[in-house]
Amino acid sequence: MSKAQLIVALDVETFDEASRLIDDLGDSVEIFKVGSQMFTAQGPFSTRYLQSKGKKVFLDLKFHDIPNTVASAVKSAVSLSVSPNNDPGFAPLFMLTVHTAGGKEMLEAAAQAAQMQAKALGVQRPLIVGVTVLTSTAKDVGTQELVLERARLAKEAGLDGVVASVEEAAAIRQSLGQDFLIVTPGIRPAEASLNDQKRVATPKGAIEQGSNFLVVGRPIIQAASPRAAALKILEEIK
Ligand code: C5P
Repeated sequence: MSKAQLIVALDVETFDEASRLIDDLGDSVEIFKVGSQMFTAQGPFSTRYLQSKGKKVFLDLKFHDIPNTVASAVKSAVSLSVSPNNDPGFAPLFMLTVHTAGGKEMLEAAAQAAQMQAKALGVQRPLIVGVTVLTSTAKDVGTQELVLERARLAKEAGLDGVVASVEEAAAIRQSLGQDFLIVTPGIRPAEASLNDQKRVATPKGAIEQGSNFLVVGRPIIQAASPRAAALKILEEIK
């Protein structure tokens, strides 16, 4: 398995805040997650800005609706891979989320829509990962089983991987193999505040449990120096 990678969650509202963070982080961070806050406030402008800088965009809108609506949303997301002004350095959309609670038919519709739209536009297909159980949900009896069940469903439906907490990562890896991607939010360096997250782990813990992508938001974006915070986490990943 290749080395785990850091994804910074760009959970801010204004373009000014986002561009300051992107500039500050510079070359240290290659993948940025644009979620519902940023995308609702700024729309495709936010993803295009990153793509035009050659950054990989993880569009985390957790699509969860009837199969037809999700397929259409995925199709629109894949279209974000096309540069509006034929910029050769424009990066295609890297990854997007759908919610596994939507069921197999919805997940299959998402996977098929991504494949077909990428082919139609001649762009690289983004990775599709399924959200299992949010990391802000405390561990309960049955959480691990539910996450595993949803991860299996995601794989059967043709998704590339799942979003889960580090607590379930090792079981997912063991059950679904080396090639199935595991994206873990809820990452907290030892000294950081938990905020609203419940199922958390350190960067080192995440890697030991088999995570491929570590999603970090507030411990970096709210740090006095986001760049220093990111470099510290990158060092731990190495
Ligand atoms: O600030 P923090 O590091 O907690 O940010 C985590 C990010 O990961 C947030 O953008 C949140 O929406 C996202 N996320 C999560 N749990 C999931 C899926 C996504 O925390 N299961």
